[in-house]
Amino acid sequence: MNAPAPSAALETAVAAARRAGELMREYSRRGFSVNHKGRTDLVTEADVACERAIIETIRASYPNHAVVAEEGGQSGESSCRWIIDPIDGTTNFAHGFPVYCASIGFEREGQVAAGAVYDPTRGEMFTATRGGGAFLNGEAIAVSAVAALERSLLATGFPYAIRDEVENNLSHFANFAMRAQAIRRPGAAALDLCYVACGRLDGFWEFHLKPWDMAAGALIVEEAGGRVTGVRGEPFSMYQPHILASNGRIHGEMLSTLHVAAK
Ligand code: IPD
Ligand code: CA
Ligand code: CA
Repeated sequence: MNAPAPSAALETAVAAARRAGELMREYSRRGFSVNHKGRTDLVTEADVACERAIIETIRASYPNHAVVAEEGGQSGESSCRWIIDPIDGTTNFAHGFPVYCASIGFEREGQVAAGAVYDPTRGEMFTATRGGGAFLNGEAIAVSAVAALERSLLATGFPYAIRDEVENNLSHFANFAMRAQAIRRPGAAALDLCYVACGRLDGFWEFHLKPWDMAAGALIVEEAGGRVTGVRGEPFSMYQPHILASNGRIHGEMLSTLHVAAK
């Protein structure tokens, strides 16, 4: 099978993310049902509808590609795979807290080649293709120039299973709180990554994420000139559950802070 060029895949990702964004706007106007996947882990009617619309859009152009989506899991076998989070920030969405997005990554031969993250409440579309740069609504973006942790604005998140996980991120949070300028917990990992990419944040770390939280956002950070690794500084893989993304300049300080808390 001939793989599409990253720019062609990106076009499809953008169209699919926009469709999901329209659905999010529609559901938040008219209301939706909410179910529990776990004690604190929610899924709404809108998550399912957005995922269906995204997959439909992708399949219209690429019927033979594989899909990995948060709500429906994996379908198809192919070296071309679409990694989909229909609503990243579901808890926010369910509460009407306007920080959520659709995140779509296109993986070719094991490497993410294109990604789109769409925030429907701000009308912001973050995009990247590997080697082609990162963009916000078509304008090139770059990471911040902040070079010291004490002047940095950071973001992180906590796992749904915070009550049961040994690595619940609370000690790292405390250590960063004492060293950074400030920390936020916005609640949508894909957007946190895009905010690092466009310089609104200087760094982000989190444990217990899934490929669909990171696929598009990690590429967008790298293409914006940032650095993305695992939390011990090892090469990044979206198939390992943790991530450290930064403007590159504070990466070392962030790594040593994570190391302090790990001891
Ligand atoms: C969650 C968000 C959140 C992060 C969680 C994720 P969801 O994704 O990205 O910021 O802290 O770990 O699971 O469930 O809203 O798609
Ligand atoms: Ca998610
Ligand atoms: Ca989700």
